[in-house]
Amino acid sequence: MNYPKKVRLVEVGPRDGLQNEARPVSVEAKVKLIDALSAAGHTSVESGSFVSPKWVPQMANTEAVMAQIKRKPGVSYPVLVPNKQGMNGAVESQCGEIAIFTAASEAFCKKNTNCSIHESFERFAPVMEAAQKHGMKVRGYISTVIACPYDGKVAPAKVAELSDRLFRMGCYEVSLGDTIGVGTPAECVAMIDAVAEKMPREKIAAHFHDTYGQSLANIMAVMERGITVFDTAVAGLGGCPYAKGASGNVGTEDVIYLMNGLGIEHGVDLDKIAAAGRDICVALGREPASKVAQALKAKQAGVS
Ligand code: HMG
Ligand code: MG
Repeated sequence: MNYPKKVRLVEVGPRDGLQNEARPVSVEAKVKLIDALSAAGHTSVESGSFVSPKWVPQMANTEAVMAQIKRKPGVSYPVLVPNKQGMNGAVESQCGEIAIFTAASEAFCKKNTNCSIHESFERFAPVMEAAQKHGMKVRGYISTVIACPYDGKVAPAKVAELSDRLFRMGCYEVSLGDTIGVGTPAECVAMIDAVAEKMPREKIAAHFHDTYGQSLANIMAVMERGITVFDTAVAGLGGCPYAKGASGNVGTEDVIYLMNGLGIEHGVDLDKIAAAGRDICVALGREPASKVAQALKAKQAGVS
């Protein structure tokens, strides 16, 4: 097997994990979660979104969250920014990193951001300019890289074309999102290989949702193709408000357990992540979706 020695995990729980939850999450609970995730060893913790509170109410308190987290040296706390207005919020909050986002299918782009793919790139231009001026790193996201809930299958060539554009406009990394979690390993490898013809593999991140339980298999498959950056969410929380039926991101606990088993370095402490996951699940009044989190919770309950 051709696996890397080391991978980087990007924790998206406080943003992707919480944006779709019905129960509002307080600033205090989010700050506690983010601080626990950085203390567990994550070097990138996506912490919120400067999007319209009418569209995504769960992210409305991002400014207060960013003001209260302990910013640990060496840790990045990216926030999602859809347009110039969101960028103003990110600048005011002194964010060192932002993430811009578009989609590989027109219908999802419209539902998610009320604009076409072309228009989403027009919105990015002033955002990129401001990011450069303020010395902020920019990560790019593409949603629906395998299939769209409205338009069906997506061609790898479309994902490759958009990845190329994001990379050339200055994104240091492009995260490819299987938003509705329908992809299987062969499809993910075909999509990644198409993108890798346009930009360096080491600048590609994989963002898998686990709706059909394929995300660990997909990670294994694309890792064999040289991908070493994976987006994960503590407790397997997550979903997208504009992708009905899509379940959570691949659980951070599950990915850590997998990497530990393969002897691949990642720098994140499983027990600390599992504890952070249990705390946020209590705040949300739900069970973790991550299998490893469930197993550790049951083991802990059995022991105590
Ligand atoms: P719009 O309605 O077309 O925007 O929304 P607009 O420019 O016409 O403005 C309308 C109103 O929104 C105005 O307020 C603006 O001030 C306000 P009003 O005058 O009506 O009171 N507004 C904003 N408020 C706060 N922050 C802003 C902002 N911009 C405008 N930045 C917009 C366009 C993009 C804002 C909207 O569609 C939106 O917020 N969408 C949210 C999309 C989102 O957050 N989706 C989930 C994240 S993406 C994801 O989950 C996928 C990912 O995980 C990868 C994967 O899994 O695929 C990344
Ligand atoms: Mg997502």
